[in-house]
Amino acid sequence: MKTILCIFGTRPDTIKMAPVIHELRRFKREFRVITVATAQHRHMLDQVLEVFRIKPTYDLNIMQTGQTLSQISSRTLERLDTIVAGAKPDLVLVQGDTSTTFLGSLVAFYHKVSVGHIEAGLRTLDKLNPFPEEINRRLTGHIADLHFAATKTAKKLLLAEGVDRQTIFTTGNTVIDALVTTVERNHRFDSQVLNGITREAARGKRLVLITIHRRENWGKPMLGACKAIKRLANENSDVNFVFPVHRNPVVRNVVYPTLSGLANILLLEPLNYKDFVNLMKTSSFIVTDSGGIQEEAPSLGKPVLVLRKVTERPEAVRAGTVKLVGLDEKRIYRESKRLLSEGRTSRSMAKRANPYGDGKAAWRTVQAIRWFFGYRRSRPAEFKP
Ligand code: UD1
Ligand code: UDP
Repeated sequence: MKTILCIFGTRPDTIKMAPVIHELRRFKREFRVITVATAQHRHMLDQVLEVFRIKPTYDLNIMQTGQTLSQISSRTLERLDTIVAGAKPDLVLVQGDTSTTFLGSLVAFYHKVSVGHIEAGLRTLDKLNPFPEEINRRLTGHIADLHFAATKTAKKLLLAEGVDRQTIFTTGNTVIDALVTTVERNHRFDSQVLNGITREAARGKRLVLITIHRRENWGKPMLGACKAIKRLANENSDVNFVFPVHRNPVVRNVVYPTLSGLANILLLEPLNYKDFVNLMKTSSFIVTDSGGIQEEAPSLGKPVLVLRKVTERPEAVRAGTVKLVGLDEKRIYRESKRLLSEGRTSRSMAKRANPYGDGKAAWRTVQAIRWFFGYRRSRPAEFKP
């Protein structure tokens, strides 16, 4: 029996870890699964835990309002150290590129415990974009013993860094597992407002979905993006702009003063995952700086304008469903306007594509772990889009 410690703590790493936790739990005779939430996020984490029915074995409850990266780090390191020392796991699993991801792998390393990195090998090769995630994932990659790369591109990047081929598994991204089990044919939203908006969408009133939160976009770039959205909303009263606003006060202090008070801009609290993915399905297109949404939207056939200078997720750009538009206010306005006015451009971007997964990434990940511990003879077959 092997003990696997799964560490997560923010909205995205928990959504993407959830399918792996559930899959691991199917192998009761092989694995003892311990779940640790750093709770780097609180409300946004709890929303995910509820949807995926996960009760963490340990909750480190580290979130503070307006926390700095150093505060997250010191609080997480100290509290995780005790847990890892006590649990003596055979493997620590971390996901993605958050502070929780890197710090989880660091504590495991200090205790000489093997580390499995889910969603390994994403790179922009620009140390400040995204910040601090590019460095978090590179450092995690240096520590990890098992690398679960979502795509062939990610695998190639790891090989180019000298990672041993035997330790890399191309699995697809577990976010697609989460997505396919959550999208519903006739979803009823928790909120009457959203039920109303989707009814309007069904009658032809288009919906544009927006999220912005990245640290490198704080301040002027985020303000520029909001101004572009305000102009679009003013000029397109026949379109609803729906914006679930991240809980970070730095984000709210820009978004609320700039975008409040317009009849066709709906500023909402962060949505639970079920509501959010089903709202994506209803939208005409999405404007975002999120990582996960870039992976989910192509599977739903939704065009995405990405508010970043560079992306570590080139597959959907190549497939044509995602366009990197940067943070220039005029460009964001122009590109969004084009999608609103040229039905054909929008349609050509709205091809359904699955470059990131087929819904079986958690299965491949767990089979690779079984192989690592000798519970299975052969390596699992690789994900091929
Ligand atoms: C973190 C991750 C980022 C990821 C993002 C997903 C790091 C360094 N950053 O960024 O990679 O893309 O999560 O959303 O790991 N807050 C709340 N309630 C919540 C969540 C956040 O109030 O449920 C507020 C708090 O004031 C907190 C602040 O948001 O201090 C920032 O949270 P933090 O985890 O530091 O950074 P994010 O910008 O959320
Ligand atoms: N998401 C959600 N509710 C929201 C906004 C996003 O559940 O109100 C989901 C989204 O579907 C995706 C993930 O959160 O799976 C992305 O998280 P975020 O954009 O915060 O982080 P990133 O992916 O950029 O690290």
